[in-house]
Amino acid sequence: MLVVYHPPRVRNKPEATQLRATVHVIRYEAQRVVSVELRPQPGSKFPDFDAGSHIDVYLPNGMVRSYSLCNSTDDKNLYVIGVLNVEAGRGGSRYIHEQLRVGAKIEISKPRNNFPLHEGAVHTVLIAGGVGITPILSMARRLRALGQSVELLYCARSRVEAAFVQDIEALGIAVKWHFNDEHGERVDLVQFLATRRRDAHFYACGPTQMLDDFERHCGELGLAHAHVERFAARYAPAETTKPYRVELGRSGRMLDVTPGKTLLQTLLDAGIDVPHGCKQGVCGACKTRVLSGEPDHRDTVLNASEREGNAVMTVCVSGCKGELLALDL
Ligand code: FES
Repeated sequence: MLVVYHPPRVRNKPEATQLRATVHVIRYEAQRVVSVELRPQPGSKFPDFDAGSHIDVYLPNGMVRSYSLCNSTDDKNLYVIGVLNVEAGRGGSRYIHEQLRVGAKIEISKPRNNFPLHEGAVHTVLIAGGVGITPILSMARRLRALGQSVELLYCARSRVEAAFVQDIEALGIAVKWHFNDEHGERVDLVQFLATRRRDAHFYACGPTQMLDDFERHCGELGLAHAHVERFAARYAPAETTKPYRVELGRSGRMLDVTPGKTLLQTLLDAGIDVPHGCKQGVCGACKTRVLSGEPDHRDTVLNASEREGNAVMTVCVSGCKGELLALDL
C-alpha cells in the first residue's frame, strides 16, 4: 500500500483544528450504523479528497476518532462518514449515536489517505466487511464515475446490518452479497479471489480476521496488487519496558522514554505538539521522520518497505529497539 509521507511540523495548534464543521444530517443506514454529513461552518471550506481518505473527528467529549469518507470525491464541501455503534468500544461511536445532534459544531482534520486507489487498474475488486464498506463505497463511486471495470464483494452479518445498500445498488456495478445468516458464517474468500484476474487490484476493509485472511490468501495466490485499510489496532502499543532516549533533531533536545509510557505521551508531556489522532497506529496522523535509530513498529499504517526502511514511524504506538532514536521534531 502506497503511503504518501508529509513531514510533520511543530504547531501551536493540532492539525485537527484546521477544519470547522457542522453536522448537517444524521441518517439511519443499517442496524447500528448511521451516516453523518458534515459541511463547513460559514466562512470556511473543505478541501477536496481522494477515494480511500479518512478524517479525524474531534468529538465534543474530548475523544478523537478516525472515520473513512464514503461519499463521492466529486462532492464539494461535503464529507460523509459511516459510524458503527461499537457497544464494547471505547465510547466514540456510542457518543455519535447517542449524543451527537444535527447542528452540532465539531472540529475535524483535513482528509488523509493511507488507502489510495489506483484509478488506472485494468480491473478492480473491492471487498468490504461490515462498516468497512465506507472507504470501499467511495472507491466504487469513483471507479464508476471514471467508467472503470469494478466489482464488489460485500459481507455483513445480515441484511439489516448492511449499510448503504441502496447507494451500492444505484451504482449498477457487479456485487456479490454475503450475509452470514443466509449464506453461511464465512465467505469463501480463497475461492472468490482465485477466480479473479491476477492483474486486478484488490482492496479490502473490514474486521481484523477478514483482513488477515485476505492478506494471507492474496500472498498464497500470488496476487500482487492487494491493499488493505484497517480500522482497528493489530498490535499492542510499544509501552516500553526498558528506557531509551529520544533526540529531537530540530532543537537537539534529549528526552527519556520511561517504562510504562508511549513515545507519543513522552513527547506531549515535554510540550512537543505532535500531530496525532487515533493513538492506535491506524490513522497515520502521527507519522514522524526518523533520523537515526531502529524503531519497533507496531502500527498498521506503514507498508512493508517503510517498515524495513525505518525512515518513518508512528510515534503513538511504536517504540525503539535500541537505546536511542533521533526524530525530525
Ligand atoms: S495517532 Fe493515529 S497512527 Fe498515530
